[in-house]
Amino acid sequence: MAALHRGPSLSPRSLVASGPGFDRFVRSHTEYEYAYYRSGKWAFRDALDLAMAARNGSEVVLPAYIPDGFVEPIREAGLTPRFHRMRADLRPDLGDVRSLVDGDTLAVVSVGYFGKPQPIEVNEALRSLCDAHGAVLVDDAAHGAFSVGEGGLAGTVGHLGFASLHKALPIPDGAVLYVADEALRGTLPRSGVASGPTPADLRYLASASLTRARRSIRSATRRRSAGQSSPPTPSARNPRALYRRSKGEMSWLSARVARRVDPAAIRRRRRENYAVWERLFAERPGLAQVYPSLGVETCPQYYPTVLTDLAEPVAVLGQPWPPLPDEVRANDRFAVTNHLAACLYTFPVHPDLTPAAIEAAIHRATDVEAGGSDADRSTTPVAVSLPGSTRER
Ligand SMILES: Cc1ncc(COP(=O)(O)O)c(C=O)c1O
Repeated sequence: MAALHRGPSLSPRSLVASGPGFDRFVRSHTEYEYAYYRSGKWAFRDALDLAMAARNGSEVVLPAYIPDGFVEPIREAGLTPRFHRMRADLRPDLGDVRSLVDGDTLAVVSVGYFGKPQPIEVNEALRSLCDAHGAVLVDDAAHGAFSVGEGGLAGTVGHLGFASLHKALPIPDGAVLYVADEALRGTLPRSGVASGPTPADLRYLASASLTRARRSIRSATRRRSAGQSSPPTPSARNPRALYRRSKGEMSWLSARVARRVDPAAIRRRRRENYAVWERLFAERPGLAQVYPSLGVETCPQYYPTVLTDLAEPVAVLGQPWPPLPDEVRANDRFAVTNHLAACLYTFPVHPDLTPAAIEAAIHRATDVEAGGSDADRSTTPVAVSLPGSTRER
């Protein structure tokens, strides 16, 4: 099956674009203090230190539906992760959260999955729970750097919060930490932006050009022969190594692209692509919609859908998410989370894709089902193509 690439790839145009940039976008939504980092995990590590400097507690309550690497900063800070159960609609099981939060809770994490912030009533409930126990609410907007929810800019609905720029843009790294509660302000020793390009920036640029060249050759080939199989890339995961690589300052290259982006255009393109998956998947019985509505200012990371039938032919166009932490995987206490991690597939909506390309890919996948050539049929998710990396996004 022909690949739909998971993320956008850096084009020379991104380096000289003249969009308003991320800083202006942030300032049009909030006055809160913020700082840049290499990754969301590294920003979260500073958030934990800020919380520890101001509050008591040794536990972090977080959703079980979370990628394995996210637990590393918690452990490194000497804190204990306590996972709460999820609901199938990607909201926290508030009853379970309440049963876990007590005087020993330092922080509670609220995650806006795939770019859609949690509903305001959910965040308000979590915030009052935190306030009642002297804990800090961390708004994890790793998937939604360009999203705005009912409570404001994603990542700012809590005492502290962060967003990952590298998940939304074709850049090697980059994240932002928001300090919403003035009482938590302090030094941010892990923040920073590199002052000039490094060999890693040049390698990323070179690999992005190669990726773009390969993509255009592949799409030309695809036009000639209804699609060739790309073997899936096995990625051996090592959450600790992923975390180690995510430490440091934001690269010069990422900062340069972020200063030139047009957030409104990115959001528009991503929403248009999201709407195509939504419309075409609504007709398919083997799929169950996750979000009944996207929210007017959400900038989606992916289109998520639950496969009620894992043999659904469109599965090859997506990927299940996430690789769960050891404590959660196959643990009966987290049956909903394990079901989601096996059956919730994410489909790309990034701006390199067009509605026509997505429609064509869906038709190719379903054409195979309807008796077309099945030479390229595969039940394995399509290969992920990320410039120069196999790391967690
Ligand atoms: C929900 C969530 N939070 C936090 C992170 C960590 O973000 P980063 O990859 O920028 O370290 C991830 C990474 O995938 C994530 O999915």
